[in-house]
Amino acid sequence: MKQKSKKHVRRLHPHPVQHRADQPPTSQIQELILDAAEAAGKVLRRHYRGKLRISEKPGAGLVTNADLEAERACVKILSRGLPLFGFLTEEAEPQPGRCPGRWIIDPLDGTTNFVHGFPMFCVSIAAEWEGKVVAGTIYHPILQESYLASQGKGATRNGQKIHVSNTIKIENSLLTTGFTYQKDKLLRTEMKAFQKLSGVARAVRRPGSAALDLAYTAAGVFDAFWEQNLSPWDVAAGALIVQEAGGKVTNFNGEPFRLGDQSLIASNQALHPALLKELS
Ligand code: IPD
Ligand code: CA
Ligand code: CA
Repeated sequence: MKQKSKKHVRRLHPHPVQHRADQPPTSQIQELILDAAEAAGKVLRRHYRGKLRISEKPGAGLVTNADLEAERACVKILSRGLPLFGFLTEEAEPQPGRCPGRWIIDPLDGTTNFVHGFPMFCVSIAAEWEGKVVAGTIYHPILQESYLASQGKGATRNGQKIHVSNTIKIENSLLTTGFTYQKDKLLRTEMKAFQKLSGVARAVRRPGSAALDLAYTAAGVFDAFWEQNLSPWDVAAGALIVQEAGGKVTNFNGEPFRLGDQSLIASNQALHPALLKELS
């Protein structure tokens, strides 16, 4: 049995990268996150609208066998490619690394949509180095759209450069948001914000995948996105993709967004003051 899995390792990744500990192995990271997102996406496509095993996480939505299998597919590829990196994933305990690098993974963002057969979900993978996200990808497995950004190198969708919108007036904007799973005071606050912004924007959407909300903000489909009570894996890749597409990402206090902040506003820059005014 041991022998068998060793052979498998060699066949998939003949040369796990021995990188220097003082700088991120940028090109390997980019290659690996794309491979891992595609592998997870394949798992999700296979299970989509099939028979799922579904359970509820208290106050945190649903989880299915597809979430778990997609996460395992990502972890397998990433840990074989860069074995010193740690992991922060939605569905398992954090794993410390043996270098300053860490993967941040949401194997299925939009699980509720997935469970109901609504094709608005994705895989989100970010690479962090010394506490800073240096690369991220968001993969929509049904549309087969792959969003990618590396720090300082811009953002792309399926290899084509993307940019945030140039909408200046809030009354011409299409905004997007999400709501907490907790049916408590926070939900009431979120409803108020939804009402306020619906009153000033052209329209507000609630598609059900924070990572895709960010990807579409980066691509100029949405002019801005806001949400509270987010987890690092929901936004690590997307926040970088928006920034690299020319957008601005802060918390609700207007401070530059940092991983661990639960509130987030991402915009095309021009609309940021209007969003902050309504939300802070
Ligand atoms: C959720 C989605 C949703 C957002 C929630 C997230 P999940 O992630 O991104 O749009 O409103 O805050 O938790 O549970 O589908 O991975
Ligand atoms: Ca999520
Ligand atoms: Ca998830």
